[in-house]
Amino acid sequence: MSIVTGNAKQRLSSAADDIRREGDTRSHMITRVVRYTRLAVAVVDGQHNGMRIEAAGSVVRVGSATDNTIVLSSDDTISRHHCEIVPIAGGVLVRDAGSKNGSYVGNVRIGLATFRESFRLRVGATTLSVKLLDDAVEREQSLSECFGDLLGRSDCMRELFADLARIAASDVSVLVEGETGTGKELVAESIHSASSRSTGPYVVFDCSAIAPSLAESELFGHERGAFTGALGSRIGVFEQADGGTIFLDELGELPKELQPKLLRVLERGEVRRVGSNRTLSVDVRVVAATNRNLASEVDLGNFREDVFFRVAATHVYVPPLRDRMDDLPLLVDHFLRRANASFDRRSIPDQVWNMLRSYSWPGNVRELQNAVQRLLITPDRAIGVNLRHFTPGRRSPTLCSSRWSHCASHAARRSTSSSAPTCAIC
Ligand SMILES: Nc1ncnc2c1ncn2[C@@H]1O[C@H](COP(=O)(O)OP(=O)(O)OP(=O)(O)O)[C@@H](O)[C@H]1O
Ligand SMILES: [Mg+2]
Repeated sequence: MSIVTGNAKQRLSSAADDIRREGDTRSHMITRVVRYTRLAVAVVDGQHNGMRIEAAGSVVRVGSATDNTIVLSSDDTISRHHCEIVPIAGGVLVRDAGSKNGSYVGNVRIGLATFRESFRLRVGATTLSVKLLDDAVEREQSLSECFGDLLGRSDCMRELFADLARIAASDVSVLVEGETGTGKELVAESIHSASSRSTGPYVVFDCSAIAPSLAESELFGHERGAFTGALGSRIGVFEQADGGTIFLDELGELPKELQPKLLRVLERGEVRRVGSNRTLSVDVRVVAATNRNLASEVDLGNFREDVFFRVAATHVYVPPLRDRMDDLPLLVDHFLRRANASFDRRSIPDQVWNMLRSYSWPGNVRELQNAVQRLLITPDRAIGVNLRHFTPGRRSPTLCSSRWSHCASHAARRSTSSSAPTCAIC
């Protein structure tokens, strides 16, 4: 996206560009370059007239829910997730997301359509102008379908892999952002494994799971007698990670009063144990993750800017699974293999497969992993079809209604519809 939410993000992108240039000489990954036409999407008729964004190489999601790129919350003819405008090489693809009132170009209702020229898209009572601008952005994509343990064959994951290869070859600190279950921890592990520090330690520190009173000691260690109960000295996680990588998970949850305590180690690579006057040098690469938008948290005053810029020397965004459904077959194969399943993906009924494809996966890859496990362990209860007895095309899965409560969005749809949609996940 060329429109960003705040100054913090804008300054970050130049740091990422530096890494890109610097890493070019060190990356061994085989890549290809894809050109995406820049798009301008504007509301030209309807409640939100005047709203406009520009995008290149990233999905523009349209709907009334707040997690869309274009949020049409005042138009009650718009579905929560109405449609997606997906840049592809040399054009744009429009995909209706199962909206109630449909997406139209002229009088034609669109399910999935590709455009090479500018057009107007009608969604509910709103008209969008989608302009293909003259300029394009180039993105480098890995030709490999994995980076470390991370799998993906969608364009956005291939772009991520190309970025990760360069980042791993550098020694800068990295902020990994993305929704829950997208694979942020796997990104951190993969960066470590692909870096020159791979033979050194990899230490995880969960910023959300530590009592504030113990955090300083956990991070930097303490000397004997430093506080009541400190019966011996102990090293902290930064010292443990010396020569390797520390992964600060859920950084956005770190209480604000503890954030300045990270400054010294991030800036100078120095730690001081609680109760000691001595400063120790550590050689640690920092990778942090958060499922919050940390730049926005900085702008809101919830996260310290000085800490943010030191941690986020460069940053990567792991896209949600719903924006990379091309990865679904690869991931399902992987989870079936990992579970030593006695059947493979081709045995999964078409209807179940369609449901997997049309689900929005709010819990992302973790939720998919759980769904695959349920398919294996309790196939009848998971999807209403015993896959061992399945003959492709024979019957459609039925719903196990007792499990609806597990899926809030489907539960909501069910309460307004007598013909309940089937759900492979609930
Ligand atoms: N691209 C991927 N390829 C293979 N496995 C993946 C991929 N992404 C995620 N996973 C698997 O999905 C699960 C969730 O991933 P992970 O714990 O890294 O997510 P996360 O973004 O850190 O989530 P959270 O924000 O909830 O901590 C893990 O079991 C991980 O191995
Ligand atoms: Mg995690």
